[in-house]
Amino acid sequence: MTTTGLPESLIATLPGDHYTDPEIFRLEQERVFESMWFCAARASELAKPGAFRTVDVGRESVLLARSRDGSVRAFFNVCRHRGARLCTQESGEVKRAFQCPYHAWTYGLDGKLVAAPNLTKMPDVGRTEYGLASVAVREWLGYVWVCLAEDPPSFEESVIADVVARLGDVESIERYEVESLEIGRRIVYDVKANWKLIIENFMECYHCATIHPELTEVLPEFADGYAAQYYVGHGAEFGSDVQGFTVDGSQGLDRIPGVTEEQDRRYYAITVRPQVFINLVPDHVILHRMFPVAVDRTIVECDWLYLKGVVAGGRDVSRSVELFDRVNRQDFDACERCQPAMSSRLYAKGGVLVPSEHHIGEFHAWLRDRIGTRANRAER
Ligand code: FES
Ligand SMILES: [Fe+2]
Repeated sequence: MTTTGLPESLIATLPGDHYTDPEIFRLEQERVFESMWFCAARASELAKPGAFRTVDVGRESVLLARSRDGSVRAFFNVCRHRGARLCTQESGEVKRAFQCPYHAWTYGLDGKLVAAPNLTKMPDVGRTEYGLASVAVREWLGYVWVCLAEDPPSFEESVIADVVARLGDVESIERYEVESLEIGRRIVYDVKANWKLIIENFMECYHCATIHPELTEVLPEFADGYAAQYYVGHGAEFGSDVQGFTVDGSQGLDRIPGVTEEQDRRYYAITVRPQVFINLVPDHVILHRMFPVAVDRTIVECDWLYLKGVVAGGRDVSRSVELFDRVNRQDFDACERCQPAMSSRLYAKGGVLVPSEHHIGEFHAWLRDRIGTRANRAER
C-alpha cells in the first residue's frame, strides 16, 4: 500500500467532482482555456479579406477575421460602446467592416473604430483605443491559434513542445506539410461528457481491444492495450496485410511526399494540451479540436486533411474517413458512459489508473497544478 491507500500497481484519478462541479469548470476556463494557446479554426476557413469566424474560448467569444494585408486577426467579440456582441453568426464574410447592430459603431478588419453616429463631434475618441480589443494569434499547421492571456506563454515552449515531447523533434511533423493539406471532411460531434474524459480516453490504449475492432485490425499492436504511441518517436505499425489506414484495411490515398520510409505505414498520435489531438498517417492527418462548453458537454470538431490533389480531384475518401469516424464514436460513447457516474457517491474520491496509464496521472497532476486543486486521496 502507498500513502494514497492504493496498491502499488494503481494510481489515483481525479475525484468525481472534477468532472461535475461547475466551479472547477470555471477555474479551468480561466486558468486553462483562457490562459493557454487554443486552436480555434482552420486558416482556410478565412479564405479572403473580410471572411470571419467566431469561436468560444473559455467564457469569451472571439472574432477571427482575415484582414486586408492577408493576416488573420483575432478580437474579443464585444462592442466597445455598450458591449453588444458584435458578430452573432458562426461564420461569414463582410465587405470591409464589422458594424454593431445596436448603435452602428463600425470597426475595420484591423479592429480600428472607423465610424460611429456623430463620431465627428467626438474628436477626442481614439480610433485604436476604442477599436476592438486584440487577442494574440499564431498560425501553425494551417490552423489559427489564439491566446487570451495578456502575456501569452511562448508558443514554442507550449504547443510545439508538446509535439516535440511526443515525436522527438519538430521536423517529424513538418514532413506531413499539414499547413498545405486541405479539409476532405469535417465532422462535428456533440459529446455529453467533460473534456478531460475525452483527453484521458485519447491518451490510453487499454480500451482499444474492447471498443475498437476496426482500429486494432489495422494496428495490431493496439490490441495489447499498451499506449505504444507514447514512447517518444514511436508510431504504431500497420498490420502486414493492411494496405492503408482505412476502415477495411484497403488502400488509402496518395502518400504525403515528405513522409519518410520510417514514418510510412505507421500511425502517430499526439496530444497538444489543452484541446488538440493530432493523428498522423502516411496519406492524411486527422486533427481534433475540443470546445468545452459546459462541465458535462464538449463539442469536438474533427478534420480529415488530405493532399490538395486528392480533395480537388474528388477522390473517394470515405473508407479512410470511416475508420476514424467509427473510432471517434466508439470513444465518445465510452466517455458518455462515464460522465453520469462521475457524480456517483462511489466515485467521490475517484477511480484508479493501471500502470500503462501513468501518463494520464501526469496529465491530472499538470491540471491540478494549473487550477490549484488537490486531488490525492490521502489529502482529501
Ligand atoms: S453597443 Fe455596439 S454600437 Fe452600441
Ligand atoms: Fe479510443
